[in-house]
Amino acid sequence: MRTIRIRPGKEAYDVRIGGGLLYHAGRWARERFKGEKAVIISNPDIDRLYGSMVRQALEKEGFKTVTLLVAEGEQHKSLDTAARLYGGMQNARAERSTPVLALGGGVIGDLAGFVAATYMGGLPLVALPTTLLAQVDSSLGGKTAVDHGPVKNNIGVFHHPEMVIADTYTLGSLPPKEISNGLAEVIKYGMIRDRPFFNLLERKMDAIRALENDLLEEVVQRCVHIKARIVEKDERDTGLRNILNFGHTIGHAIEAAMDFKIGHGQAVAIGMVKASTISNRLGIFPSKDLASLKDLLLRAGLPARMPQVDMSRVLHAMDHDKKVVDGKTRFILPQRIGRVFISSDVSFALAVDVLENDNA
Ligand SMILES: NC(=O)c1ccc[n+]([C@@H]2O[C@H](COP(=O)([O-])OP(=O)(O)OC[C@H]3O[C@@H](n4cnc5c(N)ncnc54)[C@H](O)[C@@H]3O)[C@@H](O)[C@H]2O)c1
Ligand SMILES: [Zn+2]
Repeated sequence: MRTIRIRPGKEAYDVRIGGGLLYHAGRWARERFKGEKAVIISNPDIDRLYGSMVRQALEKEGFKTVTLLVAEGEQHKSLDTAARLYGGMQNARAERSTPVLALGGGVIGDLAGFVAATYMGGLPLVALPTTLLAQVDSSLGGKTAVDHGPVKNNIGVFHHPEMVIADTYTLGSLPPKEISNGLAEVIKYGMIRDRPFFNLLERKMDAIRALENDLLEEVVQRCVHIKARIVEKDERDTGLRNILNFGHTIGHAIEAAMDFKIGHGQAVAIGMVKASTISNRLGIFPSKDLASLKDLLLRAGLPARMPQVDMSRVLHAMDHDKKVVDGKTRFILPQRIGRVFISSDVSFALAVDVLENDNA
């Protein structure tokens, strides 16, 4: 097991990473929580795979568990679902001290986190992330949210978990597409902060996709370490955290233009290539690094080229992106692999040219 401590503001919590850790969730919960109730929030598919293990682990330590299930899918990350979960918490007679365990990917994590943050002024949250994306990204940093109307994550609140338990064995049941999805964020960490890590991914990509556990643990640990250090310096997302949005300005626009029929990781992969191409055209990002990025994305099962999409919708979405300041879209551009900077100087013409002309 590998443990990383995150210290945002005054709080601090541990992220535990390893194969088979769900089995120990009860013991760690008991060390932290004195009461006898615990609420698990999950979806039916994940519950079928891992729910009984988590319940057993908790019940062994004297917790009485209540499991609240949410149907699969981003469309259920809503205020309506949150309201239904509040009802479930009421029926379970959850108290201020009752821990809420979020067992699932980012959808469950965001939703359960939001409910834990808001019910009775805030209940303690335990994150049990079961997707690669959730283990390296969404379970860390304290952002919880639901979607309202057509906009994603627009109703939210900061609420840090009491602990994160990332059981890498759970990744064994993930469809390969979801592994690739998470790998986009993994590669992003290498691009923004850590060239040696990027090089490790280049050497070991095949073994990572084959889910070799030691390697998965190392990959998750290094990503958690990078995100933790960034989040600690910018708890409320006012500055440094921006660099985590590398590939996301264009990525989000592609997602929106395709009505979210493309995976987030797939869109971010293309966004990273396009941001890197812009930087390359500005004479900053070396062509050799650009080729390495594209190559690694392809080996991770991710696209590097623009899909069939209505370009005017992409540009429109970019215009409306919240990262637009003073009429200029801010881009996070790579300087070289392992280092990015924030630029407000990208001309609209260059961005359009790079987006439209697919020279990948
Ligand atoms: N809070 C944050 O900081 C943050 C950051 C990034 C993304 N997010 C949010 O995360 C969400 C995406 O998360 P995601 O990519 O994990 O998607 P997800 O939660 O939808 O999970 C993907 C799919 O995998 C299934 N699944 C989950 N774990 C499984 C397992 N171990 N075995 C088999 N199937 C499993 C799920 O049921 C789902 O069908 C989005 O809503 C996004 O907004 C939040
Ligand atoms: Zn992302």
